[in-house]
Amino acid sequence: MSFDTRQIDDLVSLERGEVDRRIYTDPAIFELEMERIFARSWLFLCHESQIAEPGDFFQAVMGRDNVLVVRQKDGSIKAMLNTCAHRGNAVCRAEEGNAKSFLCTYHGWSYGIDGRLNGVPGHNTFYKGNLDKSRHGLAPVAQVANYRGFIFGTHDAAAPPLEEFLGATGRLGLDTIALRGDMEVVPGIQKFVIECNWKIAVDNLFDWYHPQITHASAFQPSVLPSTNRLENAPVEKIDLSGVNMQSGAGLDLPGNGIIGTKFDQVVVLGEYGHAIGGPTTSSTGYFEFDPSWRENPRTKTALGPVGCKVGGHPNIFPTTWATVTQPQISLRIPRDPTHTEIWWFTFVDRNMPREMRDFMVTMACRIFGPAGVLEQDDGENWAQATAQTRGIASRRIKHLLNMGIGRGKIIKEGGLARIESLTSEYGQLWTYYSWAQWMKGLSWEELKQATTPGDCI
Ligand code: FES
Ligand SMILES: [Fe+2]
Repeated sequence: MSFDTRQIDDLVSLERGEVDRRIYTDPAIFELEMERIFARSWLFLCHESQIAEPGDFFQAVMGRDNVLVVRQKDGSIKAMLNTCAHRGNAVCRAEEGNAKSFLCTYHGWSYGIDGRLNGVPGHNTFYKGNLDKSRHGLAPVAQVANYRGFIFGTHDAAAPPLEEFLGATGRLGLDTIALRGDMEVVPGIQKFVIECNWKIAVDNLFDWYHPQITHASAFQPSVLPSTNRLENAPVEKIDLSGVNMQSGAGLDLPGNGIIGTKFDQVVVLGEYGHAIGGPTTSSTGYFEFDPSWRENPRTKTALGPVGCKVGGHPNIFPTTWATVTQPQISLRIPRDPTHTEIWWFTFVDRNMPREMRDFMVTMACRIFGPAGVLEQDDGENWAQATAQTRGIASRRIKHLLNMGIGRGKIIKEGGLARIESLTSEYGQLWTYYSWAQWMKGLSWEELKQATTPGDCI
């Protein structure tokens, strides 16, 4: 099945706040996403601290392409496809490490860390020297760039420069991690698969409506570890007495901290589909384990007056989520229409005291990742929401994102477009709307124009 522009427009209605559920299971849509989004967009590959020394490499995923990101002898960073130029075998099976060369296990072609083909067994005997090695290196990723230590790549040589692609919204999203100090990734990337469509997982990161129900048990005392820091934090104890667990009545009260719904929220909408959504930093629903970095005058200047207010979850379109409670990056990597691989990168400041670092890592593991209480709660919902869209009758019902629809006045200030409101679904809706624009296969210029926020949602 192919989709023309009108059919794609019919899949997402910005006016009604409705999304066609077929986009979660249709294999033709998934294929088109691979081509029109994942083969074009800048995608997060890794952090520079993961490949500090010459020969250090990290294996990343771009769409369905496996990519080796490698630190070169001159300190630069190259990314190349992990597929042998001979007959396609992967030239590296390790997820990360240090290499002097990459040797293909099929016929033994060997490549330098710069991707150049160095050795071909039988080059003289079998090929009679009639093979131009300079033409058969590992294929380079079209563009690679570094924004404040975050390495991105794109398969599209015509894609705008990374900083322009990120725009003010995407840069602010990454700054919420980069500006916390001299950041490095804790060794060990957590990876696991959830049986859901990738867009349902992305949709959820802007969702501050669900925690009060989905995570009600996780926020009960002693589910998450009790420490002094937690006890001093505003959200550690949720009083569920007086709450009707059938109807949810009673949860919507001040004092519920992060799980409340009556707190000031700010949603930032950016070009190409980037967005940030969640509480303002002055809201009682706002929560970071270590917010001290925000007090630094240089940080305040770098964030700007609007950036200082923004405390929610950024998503760099399509799949890079930067969390706020403790600095982490999560990737939602589409494997097929109903399987998404989640990767978690946990960041710490190199100068952080040991106890604080340990605390951050412990919390990262207990909140998100395969052992994280929140992610286990979430994953069940995402899998069920995806599974139900398989039914012919069930998929005729729309995926609803119409909370506050028509009331989201967009304020443009400091290069950012934002909506201030209570809990809303503007961030999700903006993501789906932008997704539809990408799916039309527009030129880069048209795409930027189509995803520039207007005056109201
Ligand atoms: S496939 Fe790699 S050497 Fe033949
Ligand atoms: Fe959640």
